[in-house]
Amino acid sequence: GIAFLDGQYLPMSQAKISVLDWGFLHSDATYDTVHVWDGRFFRLDLHLDRFFGGLEKLRMTIPFDRDGVAEILHSCVALSGHRAAYVEMLCTRGASPTFSRDPRQAINRFMAFAVPFGSVANADQLQRGLRVAISDKVRISPASIDPAIKNYHWLDLVRGLYDAYDRGAETALILDFNGNVAEGPGFNVFCVKDGKLSTPAIGVLPGITRRTVFDLCAEVGLTAIAADVSVAALRTADEVFITSTAGGIMPVTEIDGAPVADGKVGPITSRLMALYWEKHD
Ligand code: PDD
Repeated sequence: GIAFLDGQYLPMSQAKISVLDWGFLHSDATYDTVHVWDGRFFRLDLHLDRFFGGLEKLRMTIPFDRDGVAEILHSCVALSGHRAAYVEMLCTRGASPTFSRDPRQAINRFMAFAVPFGSVANADQLQRGLRVAISDKVRISPASIDPAIKNYHWLDLVRGLYDAYDRGAETALILDFNGNVAEGPGFNVFCVKDGKLSTPAIGVLPGITRRTVFDLCAEVGLTAIAADVSVAALRTADEVFITSTAGGIMPVTEIDGAPVADGKVGPITSRLMALYWEKHD
């Protein structure tokens, strides 16, 4: 992979930052990830919108505009030589030269990198569906951090993952502060019941893949809504799938050891998966 750091393009192994960077010390940072498939970016504009929106809310400034960032991302991919890449743009608060505790004294640090594409689900899991556990860990509250700011606060998600591994599942879903299903480590979730789709509305990152699912549903005449999804609703769904830039639409066929419906990848999920990958061509 290739990174862009402090104005230079570097091999990933040489891209290093100070341990005094507030991104590392305080998780004071925002980021976005984009998927490159067959050398082409997927929905880069929406990812840039979200990234620049986060910068503004966090009062961070970078010496590049949208076109500048897009150009850097394209260069990282071109220099990496990867046709399928996982591309990340990020900005940390940076470090203060005087060790000040005043964030205004810190020099914000923009970085980007392109590494080989790594999916949330492997080929086998995409075919048979993922085994998921619902953890009782609660996703960071939207009252404390605007979930639309893509952030590195993953303690809740990582603890949820360990709960899932302890129970023999492959990945986790965690809850919102009302006890409904929220999201997982790097993905949103949808359930299908009687032909209608729903996905949690609050306490989740408004994912771009999630939005793409809404777009695809509108195109083919399926109903999709953002609303509370209870744990019970997920367990009794006809179909469940998760969505992420890192993997697209990925089926879930087992929840807490019990099959979702008949335990097979459902027809709506399969159809949406096919449509999603057609969009990449
Ligand atoms: N993760 N929820 C969380 C907490 C995420 O981190 C992500 C994305 C999503 C899905 O959003 P999108 O469809 O825009 O990728 C939901 C990125 C891919 C990551 O883990 O790097």
